[in-house]
Amino acid sequence: MTTPPRTALITGGARRIGATLVRALAQRGYTVVIHHHRSQTEAQHLADDIRTQGGQAHAIQADLSNHDATMSLIAHTEQLLAPHPLTLLVNNAAIFEAGALRHTSYDAWQNHLAINLTAPFLLTRDFARRLPPGVTGQVIQIIDRYGHHPRSGYAAYSAAKSALWTLTRLAALELAPTIRINAIGPGPILPAAGDTPEQFARIAAATPMQRPGQPHDIVAALFFLLEHDFITGEMIRVDGGEHLR
Ligand SMILES: NC(=O)c1ccc[n+]([C@@H]2O[C@H](COP(=O)([O-])OP(=O)(O)OC[C@H]3O[C@@H](n4cnc5c(N)ncnc54)[C@H](OP(=O)(O)O)[C@@H]3O)[C@@H](O)[C@H]2O)c1
Repeated sequence: MTTPPRTALITGGARRIGATLVRALAQRGYTVVIHHHRSQTEAQHLADDIRTQGGQAHAIQADLSNHDATMSLIAHTEQLLAPHPLTLLVNNAAIFEAGALRHTSYDAWQNHLAINLTAPFLLTRDFARRLPPGVTGQVIQIIDRYGHHPRSGYAAYSAAKSALWTLTRLAALELAPTIRINAIGPGPILPAAGDTPEQFARIAAATPMQRPGQPHDIVAALFFLLEHDFITGEMIRVDGGEHLR
C-alpha cells in the first residue's frame, strides 16, 4: 500500500491559533487547506506565504453556522486536493461569547451549537464517510478546558464545548481503527475579542502556572497526538493547570 501525501483541513485557519497550526503543519510537509469565514485576505496571504516558502496551501471559505455550506466543505476540500485524499481534519473554528444562563438568547445558544458542535460533527462525519478504503485518517478537535469544567457566565460556549468532548470520545470508539480522534483543551493562550489586556492577564495569572500559554504550546500537543498512533479518544489540556482549580 502506498502512503498518500499528508493533507490537512484546518477550520478557522486564517488567524491566531488556527494560523499557527496551519504554518506548523505546512512546515512538516502537509498540504494545507486553510478554511476561513470572514478572514479571506488573511487566509490568502497565509496560503501565498506558505507557497513562497515551497509548501502547498489552498484557502477555502465557508460559514460554519450554515449547514449547507458546512456539508459541502469536505467535498470542496477534496476537489482542491485531488487526486489525493484528505487525511487530517482539525476542527479549530469557534465562537466564544459571554452569556450567563439567564441572559442567553435562543439565537446565541443555537449559534454556539451550530459553529462549535454541529459543524465539527458534520465535518467529522463527512470526513469518515469519504475517507477512501485503505487510507487512515485523524481528527483533532480544539476544545477548551471548559469542555471539562463549565465556566460560569459562558453557558452556550461551555455546553457546546462539553458536548464536543463527548462527541470526540464517541467518534473515537466508532471510527477506530481507521480514524483516530483526539482533542486539545487550551487554557488562556490569546485574549478573546472582548478581553482587555488586564482581564486576560488576570485570567492567566490565576492558573497554577501563573501565565498564559503560547500558540506553539498547542502545536506541541498537536504533533504529540498526530505522532502517537496508539492514542485515540484522548484530550491534552494545555492550560497551565487551570482545570485543576
Ligand atoms: N484563544 C484562547 O486562548 C483559547 C482558549 C481556549 C480554547 N480556545 C479554542 O481554540 C480554538 C482557536 O482559538 P482562537 O482564539 O484562535 O479562535 P478565534 O480567533 O476566536 O476563532 C477562530 C476562527 O473561527 C472562525 N469562525 C468564527 N465563526 C465562524 C463561522 N460562522 N464560520 C466559520 N468560521 C468561523 C473565524 O474565522 P474567520 O476569521 O475567517 O471569520 C476565526 O478566525 C477555538 O476552538 C477556541 O474555542 C482558544
